[in-house]
Amino acid sequence: MSEPIAVEMAVNGRARAIRVAAHHTLLDVLRDDLGLTGTKECCLVGECGACTVLVDGRSVDSCLVLAAEMDGASITTVEGLAREGELSPLQQAFLDTGAAQCGFCIPGQLVAAHALLQATPRPLRAEVEEGLAGNLCRCAGYEQIIEAVLLAARAEPGSAGRPRQAPDGPDVAAMPDAKVAPQ
Ligand code: FES
Ligand code: FES
Repeated sequence: MSEPIAVEMAVNGRARAIRVAAHHTLLDVLRDDLGLTGTKECCLVGECGACTVLVDGRSVDSCLVLAAEMDGASITTVEGLAREGELSPLQQAFLDTGAAQCGFCIPGQLVAAHALLQATPRPLRAEVEEGLAGNLCRCAGYEQIIEAVLLAARAEPGSAGRPRQAPDGPDVAAMPDAKVAPQ
């Protein structure tokens, strides 16, 4: 068996210096070594998005990357979205819309949605659908999840509570019936 590998990374803003087995994934290390069990383990082949975390601001399936590759990286898990014990506006919006049913997919959905809103603070509905396309919900709560992301976007300072307009159409953020079928 190969020797453990020294890795230094920031996890939710906290510097962590750990030794990891060469074959352990970032998901293994987050859950088993660091006790951050908010990140969920499900398909382990990059299909479901339950294990989504941010690596240097990018949304990543943590089951697909080796922890040994994370030296120097900054990781954000769902535990890092709240600030000083307060839910983020996005987390609150998930509660307000009843987006969490069994809740298993929600940490990954939240992290993916957080990344989306960082890149696109006022997304169109289609952009939310695309941004969350890699995150499956077995309870089929897609409508409420998308509603939550749009609600959080409208709550952002500067948006004045108004959704963005599609260039060639009506207020798509307010349309209730767009198809949502992440694969
Ligand atoms: S557990 Fe990683 S994508 Fe499903
Ligand atoms: S809320 Fe149950 S899997 Fe999404």
